[in-house]
Formats: sequence, structure tokens, C-alpha cells
Amino acid sequence: MHLKEKLSRRQARIGVIGLGYVGLPLAVEFARDGFDVTGFDVDGTKVAEINAGRSYILDVNTADVAACVTAGRLRATTDMSKLGDMDAVDICVPTPLRKTKDPDMSYVVSAAEEIAKHIHPGMLIVLESTTYPGTTAEVLQPMFEARGLTVGEGFYLAFSPERVDPANEKFNTRNTPKVVGGTTPACSEVAAALYSAAVDTVVPVSSTQVAEMVKLLENTFRAVNIGLVNEIALMCHRMNIDVWEVIDAAKTKPFGFMPFYPGPGLGGHCIPIDPFYLSWKAKQSGFECRFIELAGHVNGSMPEYVVERISEALNSCRKAINGSRIHLFGIAYKKDVSDMRESPALDILQLLHRRGADLSYTDPYVPSLKEGPVCLRSVAEEAVSGVDCAVIATDHKAFNYANMPGRFPLVMDTRNALKGNPAKNIFRL
Ligand SMILES: NC(=O)c1ccc[n+]([C@@H]2O[C@H](COP(=O)([O-])OP(=O)(O)OC[C@H]3O[C@@H](n4cnc5c(N)ncnc54)[C@H](O)[C@@H]3O)[C@@H](O)[C@H]2O)c1
Repeated sequence: MHLKEKLSRRQARIGVIGLGYVGLPLAVEFARDGFDVTGFDVDGTKVAEINAGRSYILDVNTADVAACVTAGRLRATTDMSKLGDMDAVDICVPTPLRKTKDPDMSYVVSAAEEIAKHIHPGMLIVLESTTYPGTTAEVLQPMFEARGLTVGEGFYLAFSPERVDPANEKFNTRNTPKVVGGTTPACSEVAAALYSAAVDTVVPVSSTQVAEMVKLLENTFRAVNIGLVNEIALMCHRMNIDVWEVIDAAKTKPFGFMPFYPGPGLGGHCIPIDPFYLSWKAKQSGFECRFIELAGHVNGSMPEYVVERISEALNSCRKAINGSRIHLFGIAYKKDVSDMRESPALDILQLLHRRGADLSYTDPYVPSLKEGPVCLRSVAEEAVSGVDCAVIATDHKAFNYANMPGRFPLVMDTRNALKGNPAKNIFRL
């Protein structure tokens, strides 16, 4: 039976490689839709959790994982030889940057090597990890074709960028449109058939390169606009204008404006990283991505700026950072998530540590942290006392903001969480 028919009859066996923030929700969505799904991960702890019917990702309900596992539609394994039993495989492994800001393709390559060992006629392989344009055609296709199969005939290959937005209450895997680009028209058709089973809207594009570039445009758009608004915030502070009031008024324009907000810097596994995949690739064609570099520079300097503002705030009370007790609210990179990858709060902690601050933090989603020499455990919000300055680094809904200006001598609010509060001891970006 052709894969398209197997997919429409829910008889295709689907493999998801990499069961993290992207892979686990996708695997559960396919299993909920009636497919037989196997998750593959090198992390035995995650595999054991899934097989025990538990979720370790906040956006994925344990009840959903348990129901799929009990129904026999979802299982996880570290045994890559089981890839040979799959009809379709989604690659959702990390794509970080090296210290030199070059793409680290080692996870994608190692997942593809495992697939290549077990590739069989009629198999569909889709790369979902964010990467530079050309990865699917230049890296994956030759690895699979080296096994003697021709793309579009012997096997199908596509790229489909993942758009998951952790903690977004409105948009999830199912109702976020999915862009799909195949290597050949046949590849696009089969890949679209796979996703239309688990996703409401599939957006076909003409090639894997276009699909790869779509994701990088989306994330570069965010990085550049956040960079712009951060620079406007710095400018407004110099000119004694409230940037938050400016944005609130500007966004009443019903066309031609989209609000972005200043903050302590970029975080997460996407926005601070993905644009550099693009600039790295563009450089190979002799093209310099000036917006990306500039936005990276402005956004990357925000933690330093926040520390400078904390220093000014303490100075207004005749205090120095050195020896002051400074407490951070929120360590995760954004509200209501536990992910602290690239979180600017970690940079702020490091900078304050180097200047001699006595540090502590509260984050209901991050029980403990070790960042260089800084090793701390989260303090319960009600137990925080004797602090010289409180810093709102991430605006989790769980925090009781109304109390903060009364409880602490100074509050550095990097997220406008205390919006509208007229207290004199609040310092905003
Ligand atoms: N997190 C997001 O919000 C988000 C959004 C859109 C796109 N993305 C992209 O999706 C990809 C995955 O990101 P993530 O946040 O899910 O990462 P993650 O770190 O949460 O998960 C990746 C998983 O892959 C596993 N893994 C690593 N190498 C493996 C291998 N060779 N074989 C099998 N498993 C392996 C890891 O153990 C981990 O469980 C990245 O390219 C990222 O840029 C992430």
C-alpha cells in the first residue's frame, strides 16, 4: 500500500526523533489522531518517563501521554534500530550554535546517520529542526541517496519548520498552520498528507529551501523588531520618555504597526540562535546580514544595560552592587515556562555575581540552577526578605506583583509587570 493511503487510513507507523519541546507535542498529536507512534531519544530518562505515561513538558498533559501509552499508540525507545519499522520519520533534534556562532549540525547528522542505516523503500523523512537553507538538500539527501534509493521515487524527503510557542494558550501544534516543502512534488504531497492528519492547516511551498527560509524569516523578523524596540527603550530612557506608554499608544493604529516590547534580552532555543544560522549561510554567498548582526548586538547588550540600571537604582539609595542583596524574580527565558536556555536572567545573574552582589532568586518553574560559579535554589516567594533590590527578570503569572513595591526598597522591572503602579521605588526599562 502506498504511504499516502496508509496515512489516510491511520495505518502508517510514525517515528519522532528527539522528544523535547517540539518532538513530544508532535508525537502525542499524531498518537491522539490514531497513529501508531514511536518516539526515539538518546535520553533514557525521557524515554522512561513517556513509557510510564508521564509528560515532562509543561504544554503536554500527562493525561494525554498516559492515554496514548495505555491505548498502545505511543511508546518511546533509545533503540534506533526500530527506525527500520517506521513508515514516516520526523527529526526534531536540537540545532544549537557553536561558541563561534557557527551552526552545530552534529545532532541532525547523527539522527540522519541512524535513519540512513534503516532507510527502506517508500519511507518519508521530514526534518523539523530549525536550520539554514540548503540543509535538507545538501546534508540529508546525499546521506540517504548513498543507500541506493532515489529521492521522490525510492523515498520521500521534506522540510517542515516547527512553530511551537511554549505556554501559548491560543495556538498549539494542531491549530498552528504548518509550512511543508518537499524535495520533489511527490515528496511535498506525501509530507502534506502526513501533517494534514495532525494539523488543521498545511501550507505547501515549492521546495525544502523555501520552507527552511520561511522559519528563518519568521525568527529574524522577531529578533530584529525586538532589537529595534530595545534600542527605542534605551533612547526613551535618555530622553525621559516612558517607552511603554509610547508602545501602548502606537499599537492603537489599526494597520501598519505591530507591537514588540523591550526586555532584558533574548532567550530560548530559537530567537537568539536561528538568525545566526541564516547569516552564516548567507556569508558563504558573500552576503552580509547587517540587520541580524545589529539586532544581535543590541539584544545581546541588554543584560549589561539592566545591570547598569540596577547599579543606578542602588546608587540612588547610596548603595553599591557590591555587597547588596539582589533577588531575581523569574529565571526562565519567558513567562510561564521552565525553559532557561539562553535566558537573559542567567546573564544578569553572572554580571551581578562578578560585581559582588549577594544573590537569590524565585522561579516556580526552576527549582535550582548552576550557572558558572553561581549555584542557587529557588526561594519561595513569601519567604523572600531583607533584600536591597528586587529584579523582575521574567514576568510569570504566578508572582504576586501588587505587593512588591511595598516589600522591597527598590524594584527593577524589566518586563513592565508593574504596569500602571505609580510607586516611586519602581525602575522600568
Ligand atoms: N523549543 C521551541 O520553542 C522551538 C520552536 C520551534 C523550533 N524549535 C526547533 O526544534 C528543534 C528541537 O528543539 P527543542 O526545543 O525541542 O529541543 P530539546 O532540547 O527540547 O529536545 C531535543 C531532544 O532531542 C534529543 N536528541 C538529541 N540528539 C539526538 C539524537 N541524535 N537522536 C535522538 N534524540 C536526540 C535530546 O535528548 C532532546 O530530548 C531545534 O532545531 C529548535 O531550534 C524549537
